[in-house]
Amino acid sequence: MASEEKPLVVVTCTAPVNIAVIKYWGKRDEDLVLPINSSLSVTLHQDQLKTTTTAAISKDFTEDRIWLNGREEDVGQPRLQACLREIRRLARKRRSTGDEDPPPLSLSYKVHIASVNNFPTAAGLASSAAGHACLAYTLARVYGVDSDLSEAARRGSGSACRSLYGGFVEWQMGERADGKDSVARQVAPESHWPELRVLILVVSAERKPMGSTAGMQTSVETSPLLRFRAEAVVPGRMVEMTHCVRERDFQGFGRLTMKDSNQFHATCLDTFPPISYLSDISRRIIRLVHCFNAHHGQTKVAYTFDAGPNAVVFTLDDTVPEFVAAVRHCFPPESNGDKFLKGLPVRPASLSDELRAALDVDPTPGGVKYIIATQVGPGPQTLDDPHAHLLGPDGLPKPAA
Ligand code: DP6
Repeated sequence: MASEEKPLVVVTCTAPVNIAVIKYWGKRDEDLVLPINSSLSVTLHQDQLKTTTTAAISKDFTEDRIWLNGREEDVGQPRLQACLREIRRLARKRRSTGDEDPPPLSLSYKVHIASVNNFPTAAGLASSAAGHACLAYTLARVYGVDSDLSEAARRGSGSACRSLYGGFVEWQMGERADGKDSVARQVAPESHWPELRVLILVVSAERKPMGSTAGMQTSVETSPLLRFRAEAVVPGRMVEMTHCVRERDFQGFGRLTMKDSNQFHATCLDTFPPISYLSDISRRIIRLVHCFNAHHGQTKVAYTFDAGPNAVVFTLDDTVPEFVAAVRHCFPPESNGDKFLKGLPVRPASLSDELRAALDVDPTPGGVKYIIATQVGPGPQTLDDPHAHLLGPDGLPKPAA
């Protein structure tokens, strides 16, 4: 029996956070969300960071509605509408190709959406990529769409299209004016580099920084360095980064990751009026990483920063305990009852006197609030367990357990 005759169709999916190692910054088309350069990211494991979204369609719903982290939000928000429109367009297109069932009523059904993150949004971690990828993916499942979802996710938030895949993912900028070739593709799966680890150093955010959308728009309008970066630097770096990932070359991967983060923040400073996302603590972390690497005589750890002060550090599994000990030394945890280390377990390690001396930083108590230890992970998943649904049989959010 065709699913459109069911009173309520409910689907629940999860999607990951991604962190760019070649940064996306700047659009050539604001409306279609087309970037001025390609970018490349690492998908983080959903055991530590993920968005879960439930979408339900029913002939009884009278309007589209959305709840984010338990609170009803405005469904008229333009980026949400763009994603919904795109999914419904793909669903109609699929039906009209003729090889499927006749157009189902479900296409005209209104949708209820509920979405939650398993990590605090307030921590300033990039939640919008996971959120918009999860929205596009879940809507596609509920409306029966199997086509490429890059555009639907991208219209929500550019970086979201990279969260549609696990492992290592590139977003090819494309050339076409209609954006049809601006798509995300997997460069290598999550199983490709099992030793790679990711440490998120959550830093106290004193104030809310300027959002990415407004920030990059000002950069495109005012920064000659950004134009130079997009035209003359990123194309070569995409090739080099892809090579480092394929070869599992941590030295090359780490160095290029740090350089690209630094260049992105340099374009922010070149923006007029200037934008600065890094804090004093961010800069101390940068110094710590370089001291740590200099002590070892090679690139053992690499940082990257997005539009906020939190650091994301890449390293290999055998270096994690010593680096975490170095972070504890430089940023002694404040005893606020909060666990300093979350996520994957980390073996305790002590610092050698030589490394302690090499770190050469005045300890800043509480500078790093906590660390989330994670690894590379898979792309979006559909959850089969009906208990996972965030919406009840009435199509309204289930009361929080
Ligand atoms: C610094 O994807 O949040 O994290 O497309 O305007 O929603 P919009 O921007 P967004 O920008 C992300 C910028 C970045 C770098 C990156 O993820 O590539």
